[in-house]
Amino acid sequence: MAKVSIIGAGMTGATTAHWLAERELADLVLVDVLEGMPQGKALDMFEAMPIIGKDVEIVGANSYEATKGSDIIVITAGLPRKPGMSRDDLLTANADIVGKAATETLKYSPDAIYVVLTNPLDTMSYLAMKMTGVPAQRVIGQAGVLDSARMRAFVALETGVSVENIHCYVMGGHGDEMVPLTRHSNIAGVALRDYLPADRLEAIVNRTRKGGGEIVNLLKTGSAFYAPSAAVAQMVEAILKDKHLIVPAAAYMQGEYGLRDMFFGVPVMLGRSGVEKIVEYELDAGEQDLLQKSAAAVKETHEALKNLVKL
Ligand code: 2OP
Repeated sequence: MAKVSIIGAGMTGATTAHWLAERELADLVLVDVLEGMPQGKALDMFEAMPIIGKDVEIVGANSYEATKGSDIIVITAGLPRKPGMSRDDLLTANADIVGKAATETLKYSPDAIYVVLTNPLDTMSYLAMKMTGVPAQRVIGQAGVLDSARMRAFVALETGVSVENIHCYVMGGHGDEMVPLTRHSNIAGVALRDYLPADRLEAIVNRTRKGGGEIVNLLKTGSAFYAPSAAVAQMVEAILKDKHLIVPAAAYMQGEYGLRDMFFGVPVMLGRSGVEKIVEYELDAGEQDLLQKSAAAVKETHEALKNLVKL
């Protein structure tokens, strides 16, 4: 059985474990600084396994030693947004937490693939890669699957078509400048741009961009966790099963889309070695323009990180 360790056993971390346990993909370790909390959640979840008939070991711990020999490390640890905050407002607090989680886990799992969820997502993925020194291929930021799922959900609400027929692709940084692609996104092969009236499509694009904030404003004390963790579970499955699944996710840019030395949301192929390939879409001038705007915003947060941490 493969082993997946989840750093941060809050709502997102624990729900990630839940989705993963249901898929019976790997034994799971939940790590958190709070004494007893990861142990309690892990034991409770483990006790549910006979009911759902899954042979998965689930362990909670306060130390990184328990993560030894992990195939995948999922980093969810960090503070969530509160209403009125942007994801970038979390940079200072979360850089410390993610930096430590990345370097400590590497000691016990030098060959692991990292899936990062903590915000600001693109920059935390960059931090994890720099602090661990693992090849870029082995660090992936989760955001595009979530943002695209939100767009798919909103399109399904608007059209009444099954979510299974709705394919959406959201590129760019995981912030308000993200780029929901309306030409590549489609309903059973028909471009979204041709399927929906322009004003309805624009409303969906805007709601997608602000989808995380919509949940933060409703919850008031935290951010979304069901959809973000479901997105991680899909990515972990694609990696462990070597599926060569193409999904939008944050990857290290080395010239793709004209970008360098930054993490950014692009279509990636996921398999057992991590990011196997970055897919380059043909973008028209308008799409290019939006993408560059999003890249500039992400670059700014990367620069802020470099002023904070020596990388
Ligand atoms: C979101 O978009 C938490 O960033 C995450 O909901």
